[in-house]
Amino acid sequence: SEIGIKNHLIKRINMREQLVYNLEIIPLEIVVRNVAAGSLTKRLGIKEGKLLNRPLVEFYLKNDLLNDPLVSEEHIVTFGWASNDEIEEILSLSLRINDFLLGFFLSKKIRLIDLKLEFGKFWDGEESILMLGDEISPDNCRLWDLNTNKKLDKDRFREDLEEIDTAYKEVAHRLGVISEEQFKKTLKNEI
Ligand code: TMP
Repeated sequence: SEIGIKNHLIKRINMREQLVYNLEIIPLEIVVRNVAAGSLTKRLGIKEGKLLNRPLVEFYLKNDLLNDPLVSEEHIVTFGWASNDEIEEILSLSLRINDFLLGFFLSKKIRLIDLKLEFGKFWDGEESILMLGDEISPDNCRLWDLNTNKKLDKDRFREDLEEIDTAYKEVAHRLGVISEEQFKKTLKNEI
């Protein structure tokens, strides 16, 4: 909100619940990549960790039965999942969000490898406002430690690596969501 990105969050109620605007979700997952990882490496044989010379934006159709396939802007307009104007706005917002978060995470000594965003329309009578929806968390971003490249995101689960819980709490701790004391307690409990 502070950088002018309209989003669905109205207020946080507690650690588990939020009050949000009811959006008509655009059925697309927008992935912005700064470094090659995940499906990009598999689909095109690009080496994991390759720094991309500019952020790469990809659109995936939200359809679990089809395994969320990669789609082009032509597909999106042809099948009416979003208009040309909406695609333009989504592209520009996604790049701004990525730019902001790259710097934000860097200040926490974390590399933002890629992230997935979702947008939706909030209807106010006949008018609709495009808003960022869903969530941004280690479930839908790739976050690597700046110094060691240790994965601090859901890839720990996907790749059967240990310490998923600790990695998520490490991110929460660096972001100031949990205190040093709470974080240390977690480490002790895990040992
Ligand atoms: P990918 O490399 O598997 O295509 O994932 C790119 C990014 O999108 C990564 O940060 C994980 C996120 N993502 C989701 O949030 N939900 C999904 O269903 C998928 C496939 C990826």
